[in-house]
Amino acid sequence: MSGTELLTTTRSIRRRLDLSRPVERRDLLECLDIAVQAPSGSNRQPWRFLIVQDGDTKERIAGYYRKGFAANLSGRTPRPDQLGDLASGQYLAEHLAEVPALVVVCSLGRLPEPASALRLASFYGSVYPAVWNFMLALRARGLGSCLTTAHLAYEREIAELLGIPFDEVTQVAMVPVAHLLPGSDGPGRRVPAAEVTMWDRWV
Ligand SMILES: Cc1cc2nc3c(=O)[nH]c(=O)nc-3n(C[C@H](O)[C@H](O)[C@H](O)COP(=O)(O)O)c2cc1C
Repeated sequence: MSGTELLTTTRSIRRRLDLSRPVERRDLLECLDIAVQAPSGSNRQPWRFLIVQDGDTKERIAGYYRKGFAANLSGRTPRPDQLGDLASGQYLAEHLAEVPALVVVCSLGRLPEPASALRLASFYGSVYPAVWNFMLALRARGLGSCLTTAHLAYEREIAELLGIPFDEVTQVAMVPVAHLLPGSDGPGRRVPAAEVTMWDRWV
């Protein structure tokens, strides 16, 4: 697969996660080795990865995820083009505990306070590139994943469950990982770059 194909066809995988096939620790670690090649502010490398494979623990995380997902939806009227994504989001919420590996991505430190554009950019921007590197590396190996955050409404409860020191570490995302079931991945539905790009001045 070319670099361009990998970059343009790595999608959020939910229904095509193979829930019956385990994921090897070696594969996860190889992909995390690629994840940690991502940039971070002052090369701080604040990322930490907690991989959950234990069934009971996944069940409990899934319970929080479902509550967070339902709360995100409540009161929202989805656009017609969002209905497919919502159904696939619902599928993931219902099957999260069956996904072989849940990779909880954390950053050392709590959210910067007071928040500012600079501090938030540095905080999240020092971890999310690694998350995306991870997802790309997974896909290059025939594994599928989806960046999720719906569980973060219950960050404190999940920290307690997993033994994460809440006062010192912030959870920023969770990436369910499984082998990919057959199917095709094309370019995502996106507004062309030319329509969202300006030159020299905001117009
Ligand atoms: C910051 C962020 C948070 C997201 N949170 C969730 C989530 O909680 N659950 C989910 O199913 N997808 C989540 N997604 C995935 C998006 O829904 C998805 O990237 C978007 O719809 C585009 O689809 P694609 O990735 O297949 O191109 C999240 C993506 C990002 C970047």
